[in-house]
Amino acid sequence: MIREAVKKAMMNDNTVPAALLRMHFHDCFVRGCDASVLLNTKGKNKAEKDGPPNISLHAFYVIDNAKKEVEAQCPGVVSCADILAQAARDAVSLSGGPTWYVPKGRKDGRISKATETRQLPAPTFNISQLQQSFSQRGLSMDDLVALSGGHTLGFSHCSSFQNRIHNFNATTDIDPSSHPSFAASLRRICPLHNKVKNAGFRLDSSPTTFDNTYYKLLLQGKSLFSSDQALLTTTRTKSLVSKFARSQEEFNKAFVKSMIKMSSINGGTEIRKDCRFVR
Ligand code: HEM
Repeated sequence: MIREAVKKAMMNDNTVPAALLRMHFHDCFVRGCDASVLLNTKGKNKAEKDGPPNISLHAFYVIDNAKKEVEAQCPGVVSCADILAQAARDAVSLSGGPTWYVPKGRKDGRISKATETRQLPAPTFNISQLQQSFSQRGLSMDDLVALSGGHTLGFSHCSSFQNRIHNFNATTDIDPSSHPSFAASLRRICPLHNKVKNAGFRLDSSPTTFDNTYYKLLLQGKSLFSSDQALLTTTRTKSLVSKFARSQEEFNKAFVKSMIKMSSINGGTEIRKDCRFVR
């Protein structure tokens, strides 16, 4: 039922898989995988959804549709967090990536605060900030490299990589570690005083296919975020990037292992009826 809901939505909108994968990651990194990212703002309580890094999340309706189907068959049994974890898996496999068994039993949380989205890693992070963010959640540097491969799908707004193409530091406008003509084209798409709403760029050259192109481009200096480029700054992480660039199979294997780890970060306490509201 969940897979069908993802499939149906993808047929009308090929940005759905990327959205679901990122939604699951953002769920797990704030209060664990407890579907706190799905709750709506209520009264004075501004929810995670409305925190700065989550404004660009979308396709919440896909989870609503899946939940409706599941509730009709087995009411009160499957948490919103379990639905999101499986939808993220299906998003990957329906985009040509690997599939895997998602262990279930997650519970939904009752708390969602926009301010807590500050706990999400920023695209300007360096390797030690990334390491800290991941290790606080029981994830290793190997997990960091494998999960960053999620950037094989989807799109980024200019604001997320603007630090690399304008006023990079006191001596240079452009991050010297990025490929010159690639950076130049990003600057054309994203001028300093950009007026085009929603301007941005795909995360890799095949943004609807789950493959290892992200790592190949990363090695050429063609990644969007400082946090991607940072993976080349330690021997260990760089050698994993090279390994995944060489072998789709090694990437898939590592991605599955790390996704299962990330999606088992504990969170909630109950099973919600409606993924957007608590009773
Ligand atoms: C390592 C730390 C990470 C940072 C700093 C980061 C940062 C970002 C940023 C800034 C965007 C673009 C948002 C926008 O401008 O619209 C993005 C997009 C995305 N990220 Fe990450 N990310 C990280 C890890 C991950 C992980 C672990 C996954 C999943 C396994 C993931 C999956 C995605 C996907 C699929 C998109 C595209 C979303 C879309 O097109 O709707 N990211 N990420």
